[in-house]
Amino acid sequence: GMSERGMGSAVGQVPEYIEMVARWCKANTRMPVIVKLTPNITDIRYPARAAKAGGADAVSLINTISSITSVNLDTFSPEPSIDGKGSHGGYCGPAVKPIALNMVAEIARDPETVGLPISGIGGVTTWRDAAEFIALGAGNVQVCTAAMTYGFKIVEEMISGLENWMDSKGHRTLDDITGRATGNVTDWQYLNLNYVAKASINQDACIKCGRCHIACEDTSHQAITHMVDGERRFEVIEEECVGCNLCVNVCPVENCITMEPLKAGALDKRTGEKVKKQYGNWTEHPNNPSRVATE
Ligand SMILES: Cc1cc2nc3c(=O)[nH]c(=O)nc-3n(C[C@H](O)[C@H](O)[C@H](O)COP(=O)(O)O)c2cc1C
Ligand code: SF4
Ligand code: SF4
Repeated sequence: GMSERGMGSAVGQVPEYIEMVARWCKANTRMPVIVKLTPNITDIRYPARAAKAGGADAVSLINTISSITSVNLDTFSPEPSIDGKGSHGGYCGPAVKPIALNMVAEIARDPETVGLPISGIGGVTTWRDAAEFIALGAGNVQVCTAAMTYGFKIVEEMISGLENWMDSKGHRTLDDITGRATGNVTDWQYLNLNYVAKASINQDACIKCGRCHIACEDTSHQAITHMVDGERRFEVIEEECVGCNLCVNVCPVENCITMEPLKAGALDKRTGEKVKKQYGNWTEHPNNPSRVATE
């Protein structure tokens, strides 16, 4: 593709070029100019701002991510192999969706580009993927890998799925959901540090596979049992649980492990302190060495 040839992305990696090319296009066509952004940059807000400065009507993102997907360990050639050699390709499909969602949100909430129409691209495979892009501020979505994998018909399924969901939630038009999640995306330092949640295991749903125990034991806070009174049993030890969410992600049974918030005034058994009612964030936290500067 163009990225490997250093065409589109070579322009897309230099904001000054983006602005210049967008301006040329605007000056020479009556068609809307939509600038497609490469994710192979450090901060997606700069190319988006440049596109807007050049007069673009919209941006679309993301294009593919430069990647080597595998190496053949017999020939030591990157794959796919062209006569023993390989170059980087463009990563796409479901794996890139989280990266694309973040980049869409970054542009949607950037004061310098707020209101600039966005077309969301990257791993859109189901109606839910489309709804998530739209909720984060995309006015529409585009589909590449899913169409290549399943055919164009996949889009019909996305449309009917989206319609069913919107009907069930009482959303009448896309305007009812567009950008609804953008305001809930914030920077880490503004998250409420006084919010405390603990993992809770539904024993009736648990199939005793042990994945939560291994994950928490080996890589988090040793907060899930594997034996209780000589029986195989997985329970959360509230004194140890920090609410990291890891066990929820590894549990194969849907909704078997849930994160349960503690009410204000309840005792957090891990810290021995009562949960505070008021919001408090890192910028004002006593452990933050830069606290004075940020106040
Ligand atoms: C085989 C292939 C060829 C592509 N060619 C182009 C292209 O010529 N121009 C372009 O802007 N994007 C191109 N893309 C990128 C897609 O339009 C899209 O931005 C990217 O694949 C992410 O979406 P997806 O996860 O739905 O595939 C190509 C993608 C694939 C997989
Ligand atoms: S939320 Fe984290 S710390 Fe708590 S039980 Fe799950 S993995 Fe362990
Ligand atoms: S991962 Fe889920 S199903 Fe498996 S033991 Fe833990 S709670 Fe039970």
